[in-house]
Amino acid sequence: MNTANGEKLRWGLIGCGWAAKDFVAPALTASSNGDLVSILDPDPEALKMFRTVAPAAEPFTEADAFFASGIDAVYVATPNHLHRPLVEAAARAGKHALCEKPMALSVEDAEAMVSACEDAGVVYATAFDQRFHARHRKLRELVEEGTLGTICSARLQYACWLPPDWSPDDYPREHDNWRVDPSRAGSGALFDLAPHGLDLLQYLLDDEVSEVRAMGQRRVFDYPVEDGAALLIRFSAGTLGVHQVAYNMPDALPRRTLEIQGTEGTAISLNTMGQTPGGTLTLVSAADGGRRTVEVEPEEDRSPFLLQIEAFAGSLLSGEPFPFPPERDLATMRVLVKALGQISVGTAPDASPAASSGRS
Ligand SMILES: NC(=O)c1ccc[n+]([C@@H]2O[C@H](COP(=O)([O-])OP(=O)(O)OC[C@H]3O[C@@H](n4cnc5c(N)ncnc54)[C@H](O)[C@@H]3O)[C@@H](O)[C@H]2O)c1
Repeated sequence: MNTANGEKLRWGLIGCGWAAKDFVAPALTASSNGDLVSILDPDPEALKMFRTVAPAAEPFTEADAFFASGIDAVYVATPNHLHRPLVEAAARAGKHALCEKPMALSVEDAEAMVSACEDAGVVYATAFDQRFHARHRKLRELVEEGTLGTICSARLQYACWLPPDWSPDDYPREHDNWRVDPSRAGSGALFDLAPHGLDLLQYLLDDEVSEVRAMGQRRVFDYPVEDGAALLIRFSAGTLGVHQVAYNMPDALPRRTLEIQGTEGTAISLNTMGQTPGGTLTLVSAADGGRRTVEVEPEEDRSPFLLQIEAFAGSLLSGEPFPFPPERDLATMRVLVKALGQISVGTAPDASPAASSGRS
């Protein structure tokens, strides 16, 4: 592609909140094949916070001026209900878009985003950073090369503690907890966390969801979205999956666990879900129950956001297709919406938010 400066992709970042400050902007700034050129947020206080995070980026409060600032692609990191209008605006302005999960609040909105990008001849992708985590890539290789044998089941728990007034740790300004507002979030723990799990399981198994059954709960918090959900999943090849997401699990508990079990072994991945590199991957042999730690190369063990951003920019610069087409994200969105239609949440019987901490 022709980029504004030829060799590096010129990025614009839309939405200067928690994800942008802690994960996206540092990755865009560190990226080897891109520059963070412009940032957009209607809130001047949010932009002020970015003076230290991305000092070289030009701040904008108006979208038109931002889109005209010589950028090639945007990263959308706003609350969920704004993904559709902002991706459509980016497409109209001829900018490629990497957009945070969940894609949108509905399948219709998600389809409209993809169509807008197709019509404008720009690339759309959803920012599922978990696909780029070094240990998840390694785990996919183990599945692919048959080390685990025939895969029978997958279990994934991704949970955190999210009280009504939740704010990211050490956040320097007042934080608007839109996550508990269904009109902006879509739903609670299901829409926030399960997109990651659904996408990751499909990536690891190289398979697609053929059936889903879901239940929800409002167990601890009395906000109008579910604070937990459990999904029973059948994959096309016959593997069964259980995916649990929650806002009601104190962060000190074991809350990020992933197990893929096959006839030859089980892979256990701990603390790899989330925004950072690291965690552990252990292989248990079906032959004798022996355990070994699976190592990853130190240069691969980098921020999954950074690896994703470099992969997206790399594909645009080289003309090679991004390996995750939007059709698979639309399919995930359909599963998510189907699950949402199945969950029913009651009132909180036991509102006792005694513990507290962050969310990741
Ligand atoms: N991949 C991950 O692990 C991960 C982690 C956190 C958040 N996210 C996703 O990132 C997105 C943002 O979440 P967050 O926690 O950073 O939210 P946040 O509330 O911390 O930040 C959102 C920012 O968007 C800004 N904004 C509002 N309207 C805007 C507009 N029209 N144009 C530009 N900016 C606008 C707000 O002023 C705010 O600064 C969500 O979609 C969330 O699901 C993903």
